[in-house]
Amino acid sequence: MLPPPPSERTPAIDTGISRPIAGRWSVRAFDVSKTVDAADVRALVDAARTAPSAYNLQPWRLCVTGRGTPEFASVLSALADYNAAWAWRAALLVVGIARDEKTDGTPCPWADYDLGQATALLTVEANARGLGVCQMAGLDVAALTELVSCVPGERVAIVSAVGHPASDVDLPVDALAIQERARRRRSRGEAASIVLASP
Ligand SMILES: Cc1cc2nc3c(=O)[nH]c(=O)nc-3n(C[C@H](O)[C@H](O)[C@H](O)COP(=O)(O)O)c2cc1C
Repeated sequence: MLPPPPSERTPAIDTGISRPIAGRWSVRAFDVSKTVDAADVRALVDAARTAPSAYNLQPWRLCVTGRGTPEFASVLSALADYNAAWAWRAALLVVGIARDEKTDGTPCPWADYDLGQATALLTVEANARGLGVCQMAGLDVAALTELVSCVPGERVAIVSAVGHPASDVDLPVDALAIQERARRRRSRGEAASIVLASP
């Protein structure tokens, strides 16, 4: 299971939701001495594959790169500087690619939605395995889209840094501030209106 965030400022969500969800936080401090083994990588991809998808089109794919490969270095170089400053320690950089067109060329408006669900499930499965994830939209979309050989209609939407959390890492000041700040969650009333029949 994922360790608590350094600040202990986890949101007060205490209705018994499962631990890999309630205990999730975006990890930016990774243990650079550790890799993610191949079985875990396969499990993360499989978790993403279980995601629901409109018309079951599954209009997305992932490109998983491991630290120490030229591909990882290329993905890292296409991240915004404020992300690359800490993400170099990640064991994996996972590029999420959305496909905005169906195979017949007509628009597929749910690509980001479906990719987001797949990435969420990957994240939860990672947390259950003691791995941290930070999803990043701060990146050079054009550079990454070329790097992962997107076909027309495809587009890079997200990169997820994955790895074993470390507690003794000197993060850049801004990344540390984001990681340490209180994670305010909207109240249940702000997030949802609930109308139920009386028992
Ligand atoms: C679509 C998306 C884009 C994000 N982009 C970045 C990013 O570029 N850099 C970063 O450090 N965190 C990024 N995050 C992480 C958010 O900052 C984080 O989820 C939010 O602050 C809540 O904190 P928590 O995930 O630790 O609960 C992103 C998250 C999402 C879902």
